[in-house]
Amino acid sequence: MQSQQTEYKDKVWLVGGSQGIGLSLTEILLNNSYLTLVSSRNCESNQELLKLKQQYPDQLFLMDLDVTNSENIAAKVFQAWNILGGIDIWFYNAGSYDPMPIQEWKLEKFISMNQVNYIGCVQLMIELRDKFLKQGHGRWIWNISLASDFGLPYGGGYSAPKAGLLNLAESLQPELKAHNIQLQVVNHGFVKTRLTAKNDFPMLGLMEPQQAAEKIFSAFNSEKFETRFPFNLASILGLIKRLPKPWSLALTKKMLKHE
Ligand SMILES: NC(=O)c1ccc[n+]([C@@H]2O[C@H](COP(=O)([O-])OP(=O)(O)OC[C@H]3O[C@@H](n4cnc5c(N)ncnc54)[C@H](OP(=O)(O)O)[C@@H]3O)[C@@H](O)[C@H]2O)c1
Repeated sequence: MQSQQTEYKDKVWLVGGSQGIGLSLTEILLNNSYLTLVSSRNCESNQELLKLKQQYPDQLFLMDLDVTNSENIAAKVFQAWNILGGIDIWFYNAGSYDPMPIQEWKLEKFISMNQVNYIGCVQLMIELRDKFLKQGHGRWIWNISLASDFGLPYGGGYSAPKAGLLNLAESLQPELKAHNIQLQVVNHGFVKTRLTAKNDFPMLGLMEPQQAAEKIFSAFNSEKFETRFPFNLASILGLIKRLPKPWSLALTKKMLKHE
């Protein structure tokens, strides 16, 4: 149990910390003395998080937030800022993934992936802007994906907003840096979570959430814009991204399923 006098490291708001990678990252943050606020749709009643809350009553806070609920984002940002008394690190980890072959395209799935993987982050960023500018420092880390390198068959509904978020981060980084706000991205490969449980193909370099969270945590003490892993998958996708498009597309065509 933590004592009232504990000196915490930075104050972190982790959006999307109730499951998978985010839950593992929450444990790492707590073990490393970060004052941590976790948000997700139902985190206040999440059993794993409630267990951690018992272990770290003064260090861990839980706040329900649905990033697709535009109407209460401003109030939630206000609440998050007050709970922690300012935020040093904002980590956006919320994500949603629904692979769709052509016969299964559904507009609502495209919209929902855009909302969680892109617009939710933008809405939070807009509400957080003035608070960070006034505070005069901060670090924003966005968990994107190696899928942002190149659109792969069936996964475009997920990778398109992820690629949009990466492009946005590239565009914002210099301006934010001039205001002493460091923007970083994490682009990693397959991790064993409920998202990849939807994949029915062999996943090169599949990691456990704990492994991925440890590598992601390295970004918290790094100046690098991009944290990218695992090496093999990152190299292959990086190559596909840089090849002449007809070559890249000839390669990705091989990923089509033949019924
Ligand atoms: N797994 C992979 O292979 C992989 C690879 C590359 C990148 N990523 C990225 O890593 C991040 C974490 O993914 P994961 O695999 O750990 O998935 P996950 O286990 O499904 O966790 C996703 C997290 O996002 C939260 N979330 C989802 N929708 C939300 C919403 N509308 N509002 C607020 N929170 C929401 C979830 O909480 P609730 O459902 O409780 O709201 C959960 O905490 C995602 O951004 C994903 O795109 C994953």
